[in-house]
Amino acid sequence: MKAIEIRNKYLNFFKQHNHKVIPSAPLIPENDPSVLFTTAGMQPLVPYLLGQKHPEGTRLTDFQKCLRTNDIDEVGDNRHLTYFEMLGNWSLGDYFKEESISMSYEFLTKELGIPSEKISVTCFAGDEDCPRDTLTAECWKKAGIPEERIYYYGKDDNWWIAGEEGPCGPDTEMFYDTGKPPCSPDCQPSCNCGKYVEIWNNVFMEYLKKDGKYTKLSQKNVDTGLGLERMTMLLEGKETPFDTEIFKPIMDKLQGLAKKDDIASRRIVAEHLRASIMIVSDGGRPSNIDRGYILRRLIRRMTRHLNKLEIDLNELGNIIDLNIETLKELYPELSQKKSEIKEVIINEKDKFMKTLMRGEREFSKVITRIKNEGKDTIKGEDIFKLYETYGFPPEVTRDLAEENGLKVNMDEVDKLFKEHQDKSRLGSEQKFKGGLAGTGEMEIKYHTATHLLNAALKEVINKDVHQKGSNITAERMRFDFSCDHKLTDDEKKEAEDLVNKWISEDLQVTVETMKKEDAIKSGAECMFIEKYPDEVTVYSIGTISKELCGGPHVKHTGELGHFKIIKEEASSSGVRRIKAILE
Ligand code: ALA
Repeated sequence: MKAIEIRNKYLNFFKQHNHKVIPSAPLIPENDPSVLFTTAGMQPLVPYLLGQKHPEGTRLTDFQKCLRTNDIDEVGDNRHLTYFEMLGNWSLGDYFKEESISMSYEFLTKELGIPSEKISVTCFAGDEDCPRDTLTAECWKKAGIPEERIYYYGKDDNWWIAGEEGPCGPDTEMFYDTGKPPCSPDCQPSCNCGKYVEIWNNVFMEYLKKDGKYTKLSQKNVDTGLGLERMTMLLEGKETPFDTEIFKPIMDKLQGLAKKDDIASRRIVAEHLRASIMIVSDGGRPSNIDRGYILRRLIRRMTRHLNKLEIDLNELGNIIDLNIETLKELYPELSQKKSEIKEVIINEKDKFMKTLMRGEREFSKVITRIKNEGKDTIKGEDIFKLYETYGFPPEVTRDLAEENGLKVNMDEVDKLFKEHQDKSRLGSEQKFKGGLAGTGEMEIKYHTATHLLNAALKEVINKDVHQKGSNITAERMRFDFSCDHKLTDDEKKEAEDLVNKWISEDLQVTVETMKKEDAIKSGAECMFIEKYPDEVTVYSIGTISKELCGGPHVKHTGELGHFKIIKEEASSSGVRRIKAILE
C-alpha cells in the first residue's frame, strides 16, 4: 500500500468516526520560539488539550509534518529519519480509552488488513503518580488481543510527554511482529532487536506535569501518533524506509550517478535532502543559529556525502527535481515552491564548497608542517581548528589525512568536539536558565555535580550524549540528556563511580572571564555564538570538564560529598533523565 493510500485511509476512517480533518501545521512552529521544529502531531494542539475550545470540535484528525533532530547523526543506518509524517487522531475531552482502542484495532485489522496475530500491545504498569492501566488491557482483550500479547511497562516505555512539562499520560503502544525469530526467550515488544516494530501510540492525556508534579487535567484527552514512513515500510513488506516508494526513486537515481557507491551515504543524501526540502518549503533558511543551523547542517552533510559518492554536484538541481516529483503526491505544494527550494539548497551547497576549498588550502599547510616536523599524526587540535576557523568537517580532514599517509586520532577529535558541543548547549540553555548567583550552598554543589555527571556520561555511554536540560533544587539535581536507551545498571554504576572518583580527587574548579573570541580560541566556542555577550565565563574542573557557564561553582570537587543516582527514566523521545543526590 502506498503512503498516500495509508494517509487517505486514515483520514477517511476517522472522518467516518465523526472526526474533523484539520490541516498539518507548518514544520516550523508558529509563534513558538521555544521549540525548533514541530516534533509531534499534538504540539500545535496543546492549548486545546489543556481545555481551550477547538473551533472544529472535540474529535480531530490530521497528518502532521514532523522533524526530530536528536538522532541526526544516526541517519545512514537502516531506520533513522529526521523528517517524518505523523498521522494522528484526537479526542479533546470526548471519547477515551475504550473507543480509542476499538477504533485503532479496527483501523489496523480491517482498513490496513494487518492480521490480528501480528499485533502486540503494551500498557502502563503503574507507579506512585498514576495507577496500573488495567482498563486499557481490558479494552484490548475486548477488541481481540489475547492476554499473552499484552505487556505492561513503566514510565520509561508507556508514558508520553513532549519535553519536560505539559499535558501527558499513560499510553498504549501497538507493535507489529515482523516474523523475525525472537532474539532470546525473553524477546518482547520493548526489545529493539527488530522483531517488533512500534506502529502506533495512543496517549491517554489526562495529566498535567508542572514543576515535577502531576495533576489531573480538566478533561480526558486522547492523542495518537502513527508514523507514516514506518507503516509504509511494513505494508510494502520492506526492510527499511529507504526501500519504500518514498525513497526508492531517489536512492536509485543516486546509485546511477555515483562513481563510488555507498549505501549509508545514499541514505544520508536522500534523507537529509527530503528533510531540507520540507524545511525550506515551510520557510526555513540556513543560518548559524537554531533552526537555520539545523538546516545548514542537513545540507552540508548531504553535500559531503554527494562528494563521497563522487556525484557531480551540478546534478543537485536534477536530484532535487526528482525528489520533489517523488514527494509531490504527499505534498503537492512543493511543486509551486520548486525554484525557491532549489535556489536555497544549491546556494548553501555552493557556500559550503567554498568553505571546503579554503579549508583544503589550510589543510595543505598543516600537512607540510607535520611532515617537516617528521611526525605522522595530525593532532586533534589541528583538526578542531580547521573546523572552527574554516568549517572543515573532521571526517573530510581524516580522509584527506589518510590519502596523505598521515594518521588521525579520531577519539581525541571526538572528545574535543563533544566538549565544544556541550559548551554550546549549556550556553544556549543559560539564556533561559539565568545564573545561579545568590542561591544556597547545596544548589551550588549540585551545579558542579551537574558538570561532573555531564562529563561522566559521555565517557560511560558514548560520545553522542548531550545535555538536554537541567534543574536544580537544594534537595536534588535533575539532568536530561540525549540517549537512545535505558541505562543499564552497570552504566549507572560506572557513571556514579566516575563522578565519585573525581570528587575524591578533590579537583580544583577554576573560572576565567574572557572575551568571547578568546573563549573561542581556548576551545570554548559554541555553534550558536551570536547568542553570547562579549564577555563570557568559562568554568574548568581539573582537566575533565571545561564549560561555558554562568556559575557559581564550588572551589574543589571534594566539597561535594558522595554522589548518588536515585532514578533514571525516560524524559521524552530519545531523552533520558537522571535524578541524583549528594549525601
Ligand atoms: N504524541 C504521541 C507521540 O508522539 C502520540 O508518540
